Amino acid sequence: MPETGNSRSVSSNQQGLHEKLEAVVAKHRAAPFLKPLADFNRRAFDEADRFLQQGAAPLLLDSGCGVGVSTRILAKQHPEHLVIGVDRSADRLQRQVGDLPANALLVRADLVDFWRLALEAGWQPEKHFLLYPNPYPKKKDLKLRWHGHPVFPTLIELGGQLEARSNWCLYLEEMQVALKTFELPSQLTRLVPDEPLTPFERKYSLSGQDLWKLEADLNLLPRDDKK
Ligand SMILES: C[S@@+](CC[C@H](N)C(=O)[O-])C[C@H]1O[C@@H](n2cnc3c(N)ncnc32)[C@H](O)[C@@H]1O
Repeated sequence: MPETGNSRSVSSNQQGLHEKLEAVVAKHRAAPFLKPLADFNRRAFDEADRFLQQGAAPLLLDSGCGVGVSTRILAKQHPEHLVIGVDRSADRLQRQVGDLPANALLVRADLVDFWRLALEAGWQPEKHFLLYPNPYPKKKDLKLRWHGHPVFPTLIELGGQLEARSNWCLYLEEMQVALKTFELPSQLTRLVPDEPLTPFERKYSLSGQDLWKLEADLNLLPRDDKK
């Protein structure tokens, strides 16, 4: 019998783009984000940085990698790259979902600190994946979505080719508007994966949900926005 899914699509009390989106993004763009960095994130970053320096190869960053299926697939597809998957959930990272190729590393850290440390260290990911970030669909939770979070300017400044995927088109439409406030063009398209890249992609596909992909070249960030 073919596999099917029963995952429900995102439901939200927000109709259309959040009315405070542009104001929130502009506020975060104008003010430095000064939250202190946690020691455990520094240690996790140092481990990742050693891996990157030793490997001396272009980086694919898989932010919010969950159990790391995408990290493993990307590492196999790109043996000439290093792939670093980062997630804050120890439980997810510890699940055994296949061998970890030698060019891949899974790191437990909070991205809010990890991205700032990566920027400080001069990391330049060639490609940055945000695969099915938590949608935080409640209207009051705009600031928990990556584009509404104070760390968003850091994510942009890190550069590389950004690829964000979601089953909630509005999330990516908002991210597109947020990128535009940084004068960054992006392309939002329907995604019909041959093979799912992640477990969430798999379950949404099996449930017949529409999937979306947002792509942007963050290296086009105008110079004035680079610190
Ligand atoms: C919806 S899951 C998607 C997981 C995986 N990318 C997939 O598609 O199967 C979102 C993931 O982002 C992680 N995450 C959310 N906020 C995070 C943060 N601040 N730092 C690190 N990981 C975070 C969660 O732990 C979770 O594993």
